[in-house]
Amino acid sequence: MTSLADIRSTFLNYFDKQGHEVVASSPLVPRNDPTLMFANSGMVQFKNLFTGVETRDYTRATSSQKCVRAGGKHNDLDNVGYTARHHTFFEMLGNFSFGDYFKGEAIPYAWELLTKEFGINKDKLLVTVYHTDDEAADMWKKVAGLSDDKIIRIPTDDNFWRMGPTGPCGPCTEIFYDHGDHIWGGPPGSEEEDGDRFIEIWNVVFMQNEQFEDGTMKPLEMQSIDTGMGLERIGALLQGKHDNYDTDLMRALIEASADATSTDPDGPGNTHHRVIADHLRSTSFLIAEGVLPSNEGRGYVLRRIMRRAMRHAHQLGGKDPVMHKLVSALVQQMGAAYPELGQGQRLIEETMLNEEVRFKQTLDRGLKLLDEELSGLPDDAALPGEAAFKLYDTYGFPLDLTQDALREKGREVDTDGFDAAMAAQKAKARAAWSGTGEAADSAIWFNIADESGATDFLGYDTLTAEGQIMALVTDGQTQDHADGTVQIVLNQTPFYAEAGGQVGDAGTLRTETGQADITDTKKFGDVYVHFAKVTNGHLHQGQGAELVVDAQRRATIQSNHSATHLLNEALRDVLGDHIAQRGSLNGPDRLRFDFSHTKALNAAELAQVERDVNAVIRQNGTVETRVMTPDDAREMGAQALFGEKYGDEVRVVSMGRQEGSGKGTFGNTYSLELCGGTHVKQLGEIGAFVTLGDSASSAGVRRIEALTGQAALDHLRAQDGRLAQAAAALKAPSAEVAERVKALLDERKALSNEVAQLRRELAMGGGAKETAPSEVINGVAFQAQVLSGVTGKDLPALIDEMKAAMGSGAVLLIADTGGKVAVAVGVSEDLLGRVSAVNILRAVTPELGGKGGGGRPDMAQGGGASAENANAGIAAAKSVLEGLK
Ligand code: ALA
Repeated sequence: MTSLADIRSTFLNYFDKQGHEVVASSPLVPRNDPTLMFANSGMVQFKNLFTGVETRDYTRATSSQKCVRAGGKHNDLDNVGYTARHHTFFEMLGNFSFGDYFKGEAIPYAWELLTKEFGINKDKLLVTVYHTDDEAADMWKKVAGLSDDKIIRIPTDDNFWRMGPTGPCGPCTEIFYDHGDHIWGGPPGSEEEDGDRFIEIWNVVFMQNEQFEDGTMKPLEMQSIDTGMGLERIGALLQGKHDNYDTDLMRALIEASADATSTDPDGPGNTHHRVIADHLRSTSFLIAEGVLPSNEGRGYVLRRIMRRAMRHAHQLGGKDPVMHKLVSALVQQMGAAYPELGQGQRLIEETMLNEEVRFKQTLDRGLKLLDEELSGLPDDAALPGEAAFKLYDTYGFPLDLTQDALREKGREVDTDGFDAAMAAQKAKARAAWSGTGEAADSAIWFNIADESGATDFLGYDTLTAEGQIMALVTDGQTQDHADGTVQIVLNQTPFYAEAGGQVGDAGTLRTETGQADITDTKKFGDVYVHFAKVTNGHLHQGQGAELVVDAQRRATIQSNHSATHLLNEALRDVLGDHIAQRGSLNGPDRLRFDFSHTKALNAAELAQVERDVNAVIRQNGTVETRVMTPDDAREMGAQALFGEKYGDEVRVVSMGRQEGSGKGTFGNTYSLELCGGTHVKQLGEIGAFVTLGDSASSAGVRRIEALTGQAALDHLRAQDGRLAQAAAALKAPSAEVAERVKALLDERKALSNEVAQLRRELAMGGGAKETAPSEVINGVAFQAQVLSGVTGKDLPALIDEMKAAMGSGAVLLIADTGGKVAVAVGVSEDLLGRVSAVNILRAVTPELGGKGGGGRPDMAQGGGASAENANAGIAAAKSVLEGLK
């Protein structure tokens, strides 16, 4: 039997031989198309080559493209499990020409591959062409020798292919296989065409037009080819099966599902197994690409598919989660062609398990409610919208899951009622919103979110993407056109909006009519607002825009952010478990981390923290992110911000390995934190971590600032430069700088003491301007001197010296310090009961234009304005002594 893997390689090899570049599948989340939720055909990654906007060094290509058709124009979700050929995930084989060959070669290639390489009986093949396309019809006659009745002209859109509402498009020719008259169905265009006898296997599109938003269609400058053949369909045909789910690959997944649930793969649960096998593929591929379940955008489509599969697994009767057990079977089947599956296996399994554990908590109660609601209704009545909304809102049942559950019972949901209930809830939320009155909560953002939906953030995985401009706002008003300063909301964006201490992204935006610099990005409710300045032309609402985040700036921001997580953990290791984050800022230039701790860190602690962080950086481990409930996250030991309000699901970021026994946290992970920010992929990207020291932030809170990467190295280099300058000035080797500076400071201190001593000696000896004779008043020896060349600071030492010389007595010194006077009075100890230096001083200073002064009874100091009246001051001192009893 030819396996799907063999068919894939036969196809690619065939076109390789015809000079086609074999191009890898592009990601499921398109980077180059804002209007598409997921890649839904092989041409998506080549879209701009058809329109000529982009050129590459090849003009022929072939690929096997991962496609998801769930949500958007091509949505097959509802049919999966119930038909032979619908999938949410499938692989599309294709060959492409970009202005190279056209119909004349595309048709022969297709015919040769099918009839020669794959060996399909040509009598079983028939084709359709667009009703006006005589050229294609003639070609089929000539190349394949098909008779007229096997070339069917179709006048509808079935033979005019469009990727979406806009973009390249054109008439197509489709190749059908006749499975034989034992199966019901008629050829395309007939009344029985929906039957399963005639199956389309290959679509060859003649790309020659471009569809625009305003409904007009223009011819493309060059004529190109885009083809698509579902691998699962051609696989079924070549394996002699009628049903895609009977091919080797799908069958292996169905058997894995039967095994895990201990049920019969072909028994009554067969539909469940088919849904599970299909949904396992789409969800695993999406998770491998970094899409995680959420309540918005692509994350919600993922959740819808996951939960739909989980309900089917639940219906098979098991109590335990099932989906995560099937991932290894998928990796076995498809891991060789798509290595991302094996690389992401652990993340896929954990994400599946978390989601299923969580959903199972409400699934039973939801299904019970559904049964109760139905039992109260007539047999064929639709489920009221209110009930479906309650299932959605309270029990986490996406609408299509409820519809799927009802389909088994042959019933429907009143979707109008559901929409009305949803609208009522939104209106309530709006009323609550406008009540908060904060400027940032301004109703305009709520209205935009309401009309355009939440912004889908793509920036965990990419820094460039296209988005569609949903709103332009200037001066608080939405505008059709804008230039100058403007705030822009797009349906999706790679720009991170400021949150959790990480600053918003900056970068550029470009549309067909203008260009803008984005200086900052903030989040208001569910919408990301890009603060922009239009630098060229103008922008208008509804346009597609190319968005490019400033990659270097983001790289340093996320290095700083990842390092902050490591710092948090290192601080707890070095200082103790009381360390809790009190705030952080991760900018493009540095990081700042505030934490609860009462003492300054000593140099040894700071060095240890820095060493620990750098050791984990050098491990160069992969940073991993999981989504779970806050409770599960805490149970795993994740650090959360105290008092922070978390939604009902959180991202948990883990990094690094704990050497040794670990601390009982999740595995031996070094750091585990709840965090919505962006991070490096490998810790080695941080490069280096250097602290700038620790300081007090507020009571009981310390702050560490630090640098990473090149900034850290630049800082060390600058420090080194300063050290070298100091060493050069000292004429000493760098290693001796500290010692030499200390020696210089000691020397300086000794010298200044010496200078002071000399100054005093000079003052007492030759420097005295005037010396009042020592006299005895009321039994107290008194000496007064007026000095120059000394400062107030020198006076206490001089007073002490004079007191010592006199033995017993009172001393008054008046120092003329140039413009001002300093005054000091000393009294020897034996006189303290009778005489107070403070009293004497207070009598003296007013005479000198001063105001009192103060000190102790044995020594007091003060000042005055001028030494002119020094004699009056001395006289005042004397009269204090004269007045003694
Ligand atoms: N893009 C074309 C399709 O998806 C080939 O059918």
